Amino acid sequence: MKVLLLGSGGREHALYWKLRKSQRVSDLRAFPGNGGFPEDSLIAGLNLSDLPGLRRHVEQERYDLVVVGPEDPLVNGISDALSSVCPVFGPRAAAARLEGSKAFSKDFMERHGIPTAASRVFEAIGPALEYCEGLEPPIVIKADGLAQGKGVVVAMDRQEAEQALRDRLERDRFGEAGRRVVIEEFLPGEEASVFAICDGVRALPLLASQDHKRAFDGDQGPNTGGMGAYLPVPMMDAAVMQTVQEQVLDRAVAGMQADGHEYRGLLYAGLMIHEGRVRVVEFNVRFGDPETQALLPLLNEDLGELAQTAASGRFAPNRTLNFHPGAALVVVLAADGYPGSYKKGIELKNIDSAESDIIFFHAGTRREGGRILSTGGRILGLTALGSGLRNARERAYARLEKVVAPGTFYRKDIGVKALQ
Ligand code: AMP
Ligand code: GLY
Repeated sequence: MKVLLLGSGGREHALYWKLRKSQRVSDLRAFPGNGGFPEDSLIAGLNLSDLPGLRRHVEQERYDLVVVGPEDPLVNGISDALSSVCPVFGPRAAAARLEGSKAFSKDFMERHGIPTAASRVFEAIGPALEYCEGLEPPIVIKADGLAQGKGVVVAMDRQEAEQALRDRLERDRFGEAGRRVVIEEFLPGEEASVFAICDGVRALPLLASQDHKRAFDGDQGPNTGGMGAYLPVPMMDAAVMQTVQEQVLDRAVAGMQADGHEYRGLLYAGLMIHEGRVRVVEFNVRFGDPETQALLPLLNEDLGELAQTAASGRFAPNRTLNFHPGAALVVVLAADGYPGSYKKGIELKNIDSAESDIIFFHAGTRREGGRILSTGGRILGLTALGSGLRNARERAYARLEKVVAPGTFYRKDIGVKALQ
């Protein structure tokens, strides 16, 4: 089949890499892609927010499947816009509200019995401040809409909570996304991500992974899009995964169906695990980044087949997903200053690998002549596979040391907690 992949991050490079291995995919194109994609696979001149334009292109080029990487186009209705001309891997806008609106997501979870933190939604500063008076810090404040991972504050005292509320509701620092806020109970525990491929009625989970959201070692510094990830995650044993399946994934897919929206695509459950208890921190409606860069190399399945069936068919009732044994770990190389302001145009050298168990996934890069230059804050991810986590970790760092990239940094402690 002929497939169009949309997006430009490390996640999309990993999706491209995996789709290229698919027996079903004979022609794979991407837009906009990045410096890691073969140039002849890239399409120019499209615009992810021009849905009629995309629709014309997809119709003219007769694609058999469109795979959507990032959340924005899904929340803006790309699946709805393309659905009459081509199957799309990614939910329609009504279902993508799970990520597009935290207020919607909390209401959905409450209505369908999905365990999550207690919360309330506010649009006016007065009642929001009054509500906080009755809470014990830490207090979690979230902008309702999409904010590139920067909309959430875990406030350690009431003053910080007040500041976060005023930033969103009064000072408009988050624009439309911050006109409503969710104030929620703080959940103690350890975080993990579970992704499931959904065909509208069934959710097939992938192995759990763990992201590292803070910029610096020891979980210090500001929140980022994610600085590294690994799997398997020791605490996510069979019993916990069973709870995730029953209490989170099955209820989410059934809840969507009951509400009249078939969920087709990837469902990402961001979870807090505490003494075996599972609660949802957030849902996303696409693959996570960088987790996907570690996850897909361990997936022993044809991603083209999975995406096509999810988009337009049904999985067999007894279908489960197979994985290669061992562990995978990805470390993200970022430009100094990220997630704040940073320099672009850094030249990267020694980022090719001939080994099958060391993979460079490009994120913010572009090709210029024979050179690779940075274009973003998160520049690339290096994934190493190993027989176990310790081994994968050692190999990733040994290889990263050889990368020449002045003015960049990476966390040195990805996966350390799991080894302790
Ligand atoms: P979110 O965008 O909702 O995933 O929030 C970003 C990050 O904030 C999460 O990955 C958690 O580390 C933290 N966080 C969000 N909600 C809570 C909560 N209720 N309790 C504790 N930490 C939270
Ligand atoms: N790694 C976090 C995310 O993709 O949202």
